[in-house]
Amino acid sequence: MIRWILGFVGAAFAFALLISLWGTASDYFSSPHEPTAEEEFHKHPKALHLASDGPFGKFDEQQLQRGFQVYKEVCAACHGLNLVAFRDLHALGYTEAEVKAIADQWQIEVPSINPETGEAATRKATPPDKFPSPYANETAARAANNNALPPDLSLITKAREGGAAYIYSLLTGYARQPAELVEKFPAAKTPPGLHYNPYFANLNLAMPPPLTAEGQVSYADGTKPSVQQMATDVSAFLVWAAEPNLARRHASGLAVVIFLLFGAIFGYLAYRNIWQTEKRKVRPIGPLDPDNTAKRRQASEDAGMPN
Ligand code: HEC
Repeated sequence: MIRWILGFVGAAFAFALLISLWGTASDYFSSPHEPTAEEEFHKHPKALHLASDGPFGKFDEQQLQRGFQVYKEVCAACHGLNLVAFRDLHALGYTEAEVKAIADQWQIEVPSINPETGEAATRKATPPDKFPSPYANETAARAANNNALPPDLSLITKAREGGAAYIYSLLTGYARQPAELVEKFPAAKTPPGLHYNPYFANLNLAMPPPLTAEGQVSYADGTKPSVQQMATDVSAFLVWAAEPNLARRHASGLAVVIFLLFGAIFGYLAYRNIWQTEKRKVRPIGPLDPDNTAKRRQASEDAGMPN
């Protein structure tokens, strides 16, 4: 009797599964996937080549200094670098006095406490301070940016697929929204206060185009400050910000590979050297045993078979 009941319960489960499978399959075939505006108009990052690319890449100090200048004069108005300190700029070739001056003249002061009243205050930056965000907190940042939050840029090249190429594409990718897009997807029309950018995941970005005109910054080394150049330089700078030890990592990687190569060669030579004599001392067994080979040969000769 119990068997009957169990069989019945099992059959009921199987029946329910079959019905749901049928429902899913008929949904899949009856309502084909509707393409979205993001699927059709989102673009992959443009190609960008930096000196730090590849396993032997090194930073180009001049370029990093130019990129820092773009960050300082343009991006720092909205974005902090809370994992990078002013004194880290030594790595870009700035002297101690220059770093001190940069920190001292930074437009945004760092949070502090008034020593007399104990109230929150701000003070001038010093070399050990991190590059401050211009906003006191997230709410203030959102209030100033149409409810969007300008992210901290310390690790942004690691945090976004495409890295530096993505940043470069985003900065140079602002465009007028294609009429075709609005026609096909009226709901995806760029809302007021946002900006169309096909490299941004949802196509509409709250950041107004930060680099708009040639000569927005003037480079001390005479490089022509085109929008492309400024975007490339600031992307290179952000690669450095996210991984200041990249050049050292590449160099130690190379040393390790060379070490392993030598290790492999010496290992092979040592193996040859040891076995050269030792192998002869090992007596083969089984069919390879010389005694057995001789016996086999004898037997086939006795039987009159050719060897
Ligand atoms: C006027 C303020 C402002 C300035 C100046 C500015 N940004 Fe932004 N940025 C924003 C805001 C706001 C967002 C958030 C956008 C969003 O989420 O829609 C943002 C987002 C970003 C993002 C993240 C995009 C993503 O994938 O989420 C990057 C990268 C970025 N900015 C880089 C820069 C760089 C580089 C500069 C300097 C050349 C710069 N920004 C200058 C306001 C600014």
